[in-house]
Amino acid sequence: MKAVIMAGGSGTRLYPVTIAVNKHFLPIYNKPMIYYPLSLVMLLGIREVLFIVNPQDLENFKKLFGDGSHLGMSINYQIQEKPRGLAEGLVLAEDFLNGDSICYMLGDNVFFGHDLIKIMSEAKKEIEEKGGAYVFGYYVKDPERFGIVEFDENGNVKSIEEKPKNPKSNFAVVGMYFYDKEAVEIAKKVKPSDRGELEITSVNEEYLKKGKLKVKLLGRGFAWFDAGTHDSFLEAGEFVATIEKKTGLMIGCIEEIAYRNGWISREQLVKLATPLVKTDYGKYLLELAEEY
Ligand code: DAU
Repeated sequence: MKAVIMAGGSGTRLYPVTIAVNKHFLPIYNKPMIYYPLSLVMLLGIREVLFIVNPQDLENFKKLFGDGSHLGMSINYQIQEKPRGLAEGLVLAEDFLNGDSICYMLGDNVFFGHDLIKIMSEAKKEIEEKGGAYVFGYYVKDPERFGIVEFDENGNVKSIEEKPKNPKSNFAVVGMYFYDKEAVEIAKKVKPSDRGELEITSVNEEYLKKGKLKVKLLGRGFAWFDAGTHDSFLEAGEFVATIEKKTGLMIGCIEEIAYRNGWISREQLVKLATPLVKTDYGKYLLELAEEY
């Protein structure tokens, strides 16, 4: 399985903040927003990643991640000329994927939860072994903002709709999707929605029609933020700060994960930490290199 992370878009819901800067570089507490989805992909053991980016942001993404070799990874980039919608990312990723299954992440989503990696790993395994699509639902108070999944009385998925005016449930589909290779062909056939976007929900609907969509609900042990609005951006940052200060452990620290995964050596970790040493982030990495 390979990972595709959507990091383009217009960011208009964060204006005026994102007029001059792409939202994925903004800090969720002490690290760029984009570290969070990347860290999950790394925790799943996936080393090949493609970022879908706007043309004007490519150089800055390269500045942040280069080719990924410093993390023991292969990081690639694909330009999306215009933010035509999330389904387009799958089409743009076709060459990179080369027939592999896909972990598809939205660059502005932040997750936290005890069994999160276990649950994600189960989804990955299921898609790799059985195919289909695997997505996650999360209870929200503002369902008009999201892709919404409806269940029948037996808990089977009945419908899935993007930003419905009259939502049929309060379960939002979160920005983390697992697909078999069919997703690329399905995405190619998606037509623009009423709001003019190539919706990822249309891809999920197609899997639902084929009886190949699995939805797992994330319960109250999980925190999920779509950090694309002023309030949720702030909430995500406050949440990360609180957890990190309480536990003394970082969320979304990509250098730490690369090291613990055995993808980089202690010497490489120290080298990565050295320019950051004036910050708690850098000190955290150096302490890690000393003790583990
Ligand atoms: O956060 C979960 C929600 O994400 C889902 O419930 C919805 O079904 C899904 O459509 C999506 O809705 P949003 O309106 O929140 O998506 P947004 O436009 O914020 O884009 C999500 C990420 O993908 C963001 O990091 C920007 C990036 N993006 C977006 C578009 C439309 C791209 O890279 N290219 C694009 O064309």
